[in-house]
Amino acid sequence: MSTFQAPKGTYDLTPPRSATFLAVRAAIAAPLRDSGYGYIETPGFENVELFARGVGESTDIVTKEMYTLTTKGGDQLALRPEGTASVLRAALEANLHKAGNLPVKLWYSGSYYRYERPQAGRYRHFSQVGAEAIGTEDPILDAELIILADQAYRSLGLRQFRILLNSLGDKECRPVYREALQTFLRDLDLDEETRRRIEINPLRVLDDKRADVQKQLTDAPKLRDYLCDACKAYHEEVRALLTAAGVVYEDDEKLVRGLDYYTRTTFEFVHDGLGSQSAVGGGGRYDGLSEMIGGPELPSVGWALGVDRTVLALEAEGIELDLPYVTSVYAVPLGEEARRVLFGVVTGLRRAGIAADFAFGGRGLKGAMKSANRSGARYALVAGERDLAEGVVQLKDMESGEQSAVPLTEVAAELAKRLG
Ligand code: HAM
Repeated sequence: MSTFQAPKGTYDLTPPRSATFLAVRAAIAAPLRDSGYGYIETPGFENVELFARGVGESTDIVTKEMYTLTTKGGDQLALRPEGTASVLRAALEANLHKAGNLPVKLWYSGSYYRYERPQAGRYRHFSQVGAEAIGTEDPILDAELIILADQAYRSLGLRQFRILLNSLGDKECRPVYREALQTFLRDLDLDEETRRRIEINPLRVLDDKRADVQKQLTDAPKLRDYLCDACKAYHEEVRALLTAAGVVYEDDEKLVRGLDYYTRTTFEFVHDGLGSQSAVGGGGRYDGLSEMIGGPELPSVGWALGVDRTVLALEAEGIELDLPYVTSVYAVPLGEEARRVLFGVVTGLRRAGIAADFAFGGRGLKGAMKSANRSGARYALVAGERDLAEGVVQLKDMESGEQSAVPLTEVAAELAKRLG
């Protein structure tokens, strides 16, 4: 193993690709910020129990994929595998729900950790931007969140994604369905692990990817037939609101999701250019989670979009974001005196808000101009002894190649004018 290798299942974000990640995070956050969501940041680790209780003792995330550790002080911690439980915990701790302004609308962006089998699009460290609306049961809120995710993806230029929508029922109707499903599943020809799953989390069996399992599931009872009237009406309202907003979705009865806290609305954004790891984002309503972690009743809804997979989706669609170069001006000094003078100019430009960079290390004209080119700067400032003696610098337009002498005292004003 090379010393310079990132741990298995992880990768570094380096320029220039890293700029796309920043832009994707900003694009997902923008509609949230414009819609009353406030920024929240929580620690990268929590007490293990939060996720065990919140995400669910029987989920793959908790049983197989959590990075857990015991601190020297004996605390049992876990690197966060997801954001919802943490954000709800933090909102409860800060009493945000008591400020008299429900729902509490929050957005976040950060790193998450799951000990999964790495493959294209599936990593052990990944990044999400998410949103949670806490404390209100209102189909308009579910619709709002789905619409905002759709808006974010469209603003990035993505087109080949689909929205899958389902309702998982509530604490009234889901237990009835669960039992009916268990009775059906127990009669099937399944392996030991799947049999265990029937008893702990039968809905997850519906999610099984194996063809021989899927074949046996054709006649499985459908949750749709068991939804209570309240859940049915709620779901119809969400669907109607999405349709009214022009957001196209597909009903997907098999959509179960890998976390236990969901009730009623669940959805996933899938992208058709990503192969097996096609879910670029997902979310849903979690009306019981607050109580599961010891809080009051706070019906809530939210989603998280995966930044890594969103970038892969952009690449799959051949979309290059229109990212402006960060450097506008690149200074190329020729000689010791010019280094000092031009560095002074660069410092002045930066203080005036003009993005500027400098050819460091006393390099020759040719190499320095190459760097100027590579930086993407629109203008180069070149100065040697003769220029300084005349009190000017050469201002070169890197696009047209035109070059003119500008008095040192007027460089900043001239550049400000040209850069608009
Ligand atoms: P999730 O579906 O587990 O939901 O994750 C959301 C997104 O994070 C996925 O669609 C995917 O893009 C990305 N993701 C998950 N695991 C990986 C991985 N190993 N490698 C790369 N990307 C990954 C949640 O996390 C819920 N907390 C969403 C939510 C918020 N529900 C309600 N509020």
